[in-house]
Order: sequence, then C-alpha cells, then structure tokens
Amino acid sequence: MDAALAVTGLSKRYGATDALRGIDLEVAPGELVGLLGPNGAGKSTLVKIACGLVRPTSGEARICGAPAGSPAARGALGYLAELFRFPGWASADEILALHQRLARSGGGAAERAELLELVGLGGEAARRVETMSKGMQQRLGIAQALVGRPALLLLDEPTSALDPTGRRTVRSLLEELRRRGQAVLLNTHLLSEVEHVCDRVAIIDRGALVAAGRPGDLSGISGVEIETASGIRRFPGATRDDVPELVARLVGEGERIYDVRVVRPTLEDAYLAAVAP
Ligand SMILES: Nc1ncnc2c1ncn2[C@@H]1O[C@H](COP(=O)(O)OP(=O)(O)OP(=O)(O)O)[C@@H](O)[C@H]1O
Ligand SMILES: [Mg+2]
Repeated sequence: MDAALAVTGLSKRYGATDALRGIDLEVAPGELVGLLGPNGAGKSTLVKIACGLVRPTSGEARICGAPAGSPAARGALGYLAELFRFPGWASADEILALHQRLARSGGGAAERAELLELVGLGGEAARRVETMSKGMQQRLGIAQALVGRPALLLLDEPTSALDPTGRRTVRSLLEELRRRGQAVLLNTHLLSEVEHVCDRVAIIDRGALVAAGRPGDLSGISGVEIETASGIRRFPGATRDDVPELVARLVGEGERIYDVRVVRPTLEDAYLAAVAP
C-alpha cells in the first residue's frame, strides 16, 4: 500500500532563501504525524508543495502514490491553510456545500451535518461566518478539510485560535480520524498537542529534518534525582520502580533523604535540543 504522503529529497528555494533543503518524510496510511519547527523552518512550504500549490525546486512529494498537484493527489487530500478566510456572508452549511462541489463529494446534507457535529458546530449550520468567533471559523475550516473523507489531511496550525475546550474537541477529532484510517500531517507549535495525539513527530529547522521518531522516544533519557544531606544524587536511566531500592541503599549508607524526584524529559526538552538557538 502506498504511503499517504511520501516526500523525498524535497528542496525549495525562494530567491536567496532555502526554505527546504532535501527533506525525506513519510506518513503511513492512517498515521498521525506532527510537524514541528521554529517560525520560518519550512513547515508551511512543505505542506503547500504536498497540496500542489507550490512547485519544489528539486525532489518530489507523492500523495497515495500520485505526484503532488495531480488530480489523483488532489482528490486524495484535504487541506486547511495556515491563513484562510471564508466569505463573511456565507453560512457554515454553504461553505461545506461549496467544498462538497469542489471536492465532488456526494455526501450531501448528511455529510455536512456529520462534519459540523464532529468539530463541535452541530446546530450552527445556518450561522454566517462573519458572526463566528475565530475559533469557530477555525473549526469550520477543519470540517471543510474533511469533506469527501480524504485519505490524507494536511492541517497547518489548525488549533492556533482555539481555546482549551476547542483544542480538546480537535484532539478527539484527530483520534477519531485515526480510528477511521485517515492519515494526518499536523503542523503546530503546540508541543503538548503532539505529545498527546501524534504517532510520530518530525522536527525541521531551517529547511532540514533534525529529528524524527515517536514522541516518547524523542523525549530522551529519564532518571531519578534524590536530595540528600550531602547534595543532589542523580541516577540517569533509573525509573520510578527503582526508587525504593535507591532510597533504601542511600539510607543504608547513612544518608538522610529530603526529596525524591522522577525526571521525565518532555518533548519540549527534545525540541529545544534539536533546533538551533
Ligand atoms: N512565497 C514566498 N516567497 C519568498 N519566501 C518565502 C515564501 N514563502 C515562504 N518563504 C520563506 O521560506 C521560509 C520558510 O517559510 P514557511 O512559511 O514554510 O515556514 P513555517 O515553518 O511554516 O513558519 P511558521 O511557523 O512561521 O508558520 C521562510 O524563510 C519564509 O520567509
Ligand atoms: Mg507556517
């Protein structure tokens, strides 16, 4: 089975700027991959190339086996742009109906109602865009990307305007997509989001891939720190299960224990270590 997204040796140069310098990245069918990186790293450029909106300088992107930009590739993906704006006079239902026509989806009113429900906008079908908050518009944008049940969703910072409840809604939505076997490439600056929902994470910096793996694996080595009368003793690699033994040993050696801390490095630590300051 073809990868939902296969990017090989992808480079993009804008004038004197190397936005991408030879990126290799795969998203398997049904896989949820987080794409992280500082401002200007090249995340949106990669997604735009996958959509066929930007032509690569070299290398290629394939969607379910079809070259990016081809009708087959476009038909297999849903896209929410980083900066998008729907016409203010249109209702939520009209926006989705328009995108059903563009995506040639035969899902009709049932699909529109299901998508609005999925993004927490059930009951808002008749509401006009100009009366919606930014967060509601962003959720409508996600519903729009889901029209026609694409095999691959490209979401460029889909939760940047959402409050914590909205983010939770989107997180459950992403989990639902995984159950349905739809693949997602999620651009975001929210590390906690990636840590919670993504199967895999890729970190790019200045156009190059600097780290990739499962969030737990990237987070690095954990350990135990024990504060004793003679100072802090560190046990790299030790886990919570080792704590009773370690404490007993130190007490046996005559140490007095004041505090015990199980250290679990976060994805944030891994991210900060991977990207240049
Ligand atoms: N159309 C363009 N013309 C010229 N330079 C561009 C263009 N689009 C992007 N760039 C440059 O390419 C680089 C990568 O930009 P890109 O938007 O892909 O970054 P990003 O990782 O999405 O950043 P952010 O987190 O801020 O959204 C930046 O240096 C940007 O200025
Ligand atoms: Mg961007």
